[in-house]
Amino acid sequence: MKILYIGDIMGRPGRQTVQKILPGLITEHGIDFVIAQGENLSSGKGLQIKSVEEMMSAGIDFFTGGDWTLHREEIYPWLSDPSRPVIRPANYPAGTPGLGWKYADTPFGKILVISLLGQTVGYRAPVIDNPLEVVDRILAEAKSQQIVASVVNFHGDFSSEKIVIGQYLNGRVTAIIGDHWHIPTADAHVLSGGTAHITDVGMVGSRDSSLGIKTEIIVNRWKSDERSRNELETGGQMQFCSVLIDVNIGNSQAKSIKQLIKFV
Ligand SMILES: [Fe+2]
Repeated sequence: MKILYIGDIMGRPGRQTVQKILPGLITEHGIDFVIAQGENLSSGKGLQIKSVEEMMSAGIDFFTGGDWTLHREEIYPWLSDPSRPVIRPANYPAGTPGLGWKYADTPFGKILVISLLGQTVGYRAPVIDNPLEVVDRILAEAKSQQIVASVVNFHGDFSSEKIVIGQYLNGRVTAIIGDHWHIPTADAHVLSGGTAHITDVGMVGSRDSSLGIKTEIIVNRWKSDERSRNELETGGQMQFCSVLIDVNIGNSQAKSIKQLIKFV
């Protein structure tokens, strides 16, 4: 089974890039299931239902979560409904709206998708539960389920956390994919226990920008230290960053992981 994971989709420029690239990629590589980081889908901040539906029409089957996922309340009913393909990080404290892991149907059977937040995520770092303990609990509970693969998304700032959780879950999940940096790393490989890993998959949005935001806004903020609104860059070359994981559904291990990075 082939699973594609797409990094943070930055608002409309990101969504338009997905619409241009994803349908052809699905056909070209025979992709069976598509997961994307959804936290920046609507103007870079959170998810509107119409943006999610637009991306589902373009071929995305499931959306992982990050530090922006809870920004727009209209998505909360979808986050709480096990049949809706959107999650928020699983290690938010008890009482946080929504679910942090769900099961999803693929042509080959059920898969488990989990989102986790690193313990230091930008300046908005919330108080969160330990991701290692949380993922242990989720995987223990999943033992009673018939699943053909498990994909963990780790949304974090520290490279050390992103590497260590790969080692920690080696042999226990099919893939662990890092994101939040918006910059792809060159370390995608299958670990010794059959777990596909990449420190960061990258993003979908303007390459000629500051991680999808207009560069001049960030430069002004950097020089003047004034608070200002982020504005998405709509010009320049658009990049589409993803990884393709080939899964052996017999043992739920990854056969390969390869970066698919496109420009338009
Ligand atoms: Fe993020």
